[in-house]
Amino acid sequence: MLQRISLCPFLREGEKQVKALTNRETVIGSKIRRVDAVPKVDGKAKFVADIYFDRMIYCYLVLAKKSHGILKAIYTDQALKVPGVIGVYTHMDVPGENQLGEVVKDMPCLVPIGEKIRYYGDVVAVVAAETYEIAKEAAEKVRLEIVDLPPVLTIEESIKDKVKVHEPTNISIHKKIRKGNVENGFKRCDEIFEGEFYAHYQEQAYLEPQGVIVTPDIDYGFTVYGTMQCPYYVQNSVARVLAIPLNRVRVIQTETGGGFGGKEDVPSFVASYAAVAAYNTGRPAKLIYDREVDIQTTSKRHPIKSHYKIGVRKDGKLEAMEIAAYMDMGAYATLSPIVMFRTLVHAAGSYEIPDVKVDVYGVYTNKVPPGAFRGFGSPQVLFAVESMMDEISKKLGIDPIELRLKNTLREGSKTATDHLLLESVGAVKTLENLREISRWEQLKKEVETFNNTNENRKRGIGVSHIFYGVSLGAAGQHLDASGSHVQINADGTVDVRIGGTEMGQGAKTVIAMIAAEELGQDVQKINVHQPDTAFVPDSGPTVASRTTVYSGNATRLAASELRKRLINVFCELTGSSTENVDWGNGKFYDTVSNKEMSFDELVEEAFRKNVKLNETGWYETPRLEWDAERGIGEAYVTYSFASQIVVVEVNLNTGQAKVIKAYTSHDVGKALNPEGIIGQVQGGFIQGMGYALYEDLKLKNGQIITDNFNTYIIPTIHEIPEELVIDIVEDPFSRGPYGAKGIGEPSLMPTPAAIANAISRAIGKRVTRIPATPEYILKLIKED
Ligand code: MTE
Ligand code: MOS
Repeated sequence: MLQRISLCPFLREGEKQVKALTNRETVIGSKIRRVDAVPKVDGKAKFVADIYFDRMIYCYLVLAKKSHGILKAIYTDQALKVPGVIGVYTHMDVPGENQLGEVVKDMPCLVPIGEKIRYYGDVVAVVAAETYEIAKEAAEKVRLEIVDLPPVLTIEESIKDKVKVHEPTNISIHKKIRKGNVENGFKRCDEIFEGEFYAHYQEQAYLEPQGVIVTPDIDYGFTVYGTMQCPYYVQNSVARVLAIPLNRVRVIQTETGGGFGGKEDVPSFVASYAAVAAYNTGRPAKLIYDREVDIQTTSKRHPIKSHYKIGVRKDGKLEAMEIAAYMDMGAYATLSPIVMFRTLVHAAGSYEIPDVKVDVYGVYTNKVPPGAFRGFGSPQVLFAVESMMDEISKKLGIDPIELRLKNTLREGSKTATDHLLLESVGAVKTLENLREISRWEQLKKEVETFNNTNENRKRGIGVSHIFYGVSLGAAGQHLDASGSHVQINADGTVDVRIGGTEMGQGAKTVIAMIAAEELGQDVQKINVHQPDTAFVPDSGPTVASRTTVYSGNATRLAASELRKRLINVFCELTGSSTENVDWGNGKFYDTVSNKEMSFDELVEEAFRKNVKLNETGWYETPRLEWDAERGIGEAYVTYSFASQIVVVEVNLNTGQAKVIKAYTSHDVGKALNPEGIIGQVQGGFIQGMGYALYEDLKLKNGQIITDNFNTYIIPTIHEIPEELVIDIVEDPFSRGPYGAKGIGEPSLMPTPAAIANAISRAIGKRVTRIPATPEYILKLIKED
């Protein structure tokens, strides 16, 4: 895979935020080795499965294995007879609230007798044993008596509301936007386009499965070690289920082998099951999911069906958009209400449209509850709206980049929620750069030539353009704050403790870079610790691409405070005046007198003087104005933008599609760690490609039948395009650290739409469903 990175900074006059008095090199924006690279490569990194305690027991879950029914009885006698079994714990053994769920309390921890089974993966009991094998064997011997009910398996059936998954109705959540008046808007239009789309499930496919150890601890409570994105969610959940106060539950995140949203709320469930076992046995309890249990029971990307009606003028200017989207929430609401908020806000795309009406409905079915997944409910509708844009471009004969340039958001534009954008809108620049890096006109000719000279293989070019609301936004303002504790040790090394988690995205590296930038210390001397709820205040979840902005700002605040104290000590010792002091590369120095001291030396002196060298930073979101009734207002603090072009080749005989080339441009505000951004964009692109082409979750009567990677196919090295050109635009966000916004999720978001559009152009038929599997593409080709 060829990659090129072209940084196109266009910081405005006076806005250069990484300030140096001299022309020293800044850490921000430079090439840094990942701080967690070596232990992850040499195998020393400890994942939760690598951790053992004396007298530790192993857990295995007993699943309902029915899609809909009433649980009449649980027979544990045969399981308890297996040598080495310690106990089988059911709802009767839950000491506290038998409830899970971050938003809506509709999900039991362990399904009680007499209650409903709502999906195949409902957990009924936890078996604890001396070994994993014994626990698994005994779990298979737990017999359940379930009276079957007819299952609700599709969005269509759910909407009929005949069989109810939950009372009083399956269609339990509705969110809307009412901007202007679409009826009037459609009257102003020359053309009206309509389309229906379906985006299927996607499994996060993190390589490390879910897992925790819950152990009675030295503080007379319980400590949870586990793979997770949101330690504070886990802490809350375990405290509720065990009925103990928050200060008796300590959660330490262990190295996490990927999350992608799949470890947002799910680890709270995993930890709660293990906590029940730890509580009842008084022993450390380990629960590691095998892949089948993981895929069968845990969240995925929501299937969304959407209907679009778009009105445009002849010149391509968008006038009105009306959208209805239905998302399959599965058996429990879990994170759906907040995922839906993102679906709602992003449904109309990155465009300025006078009249907008959006309705998003969340419906219950008897299937696995989907939840957070990179993009959080937006890639499904961005695929739809960008497919519509492609169709409009084709029908009106307007170049697809031109059409987007005509309608995209700029400074002074208002989004679909009527949010007036005043800064950091790099959308136009991403489109313009895309034309340049793809050699647009030449690329179009190349593809035309290819198609003229090939019979059975056709190529198509797909364009997409997206925006992404950074952090939790108006729906999650109460959670949108983060803390950081920075402490300088006597030897000059630095400890940073944040509440945001590293799950592979590079959070630790970017936080270490920020601390290094502010303190002047070497990045490699900064240790960003695994989050521990005992030492960092609740910093909200590590989701919504918010870590760089939130934990980053908190760290910046704490570290810059410490720097001020070090500068004072430096001035006391050297007689310098503070405004002449600069820092960096492990030194403090006077730019006038040239006197200098190493960071370590200065710290030693500061310690001798009893200077306080630890500080807490706290960053909270500015208040957003939001009218939930009309869906109008400031939906998010800021938005990232991206544009993408892909060239896809379709084999007309087999229906197979392969991405040949891709060009992608991302407005990240400021590239703090350009290498990290490249990594995110490469990974996001490939994960988006998997969603568009290969990953096809299959269910039978509500049971997932593709529950391992032999049947659920994710992209491998073979599917990677020969060329992926990455361009970074920097249009700074004044409240982001040094101008940064987020990139974690926008890296994936343009890809499904771009690929679908490329296939559509290659075969001359509109792809309206993803994944576009060979079977589906062949069907389209053969249709009249
Ligand atoms: N990259 C890797 N390697 N592994 C992951 O699990 N998760 C993604 C994205 N990139 C993920 C990843 C998701 S869903 C989010 S929300 C962001 O990273 C979170 O990281 P950030 O807050 O540091 O941007
Ligand atoms: Mo990411 S889906 O917000 O964890």
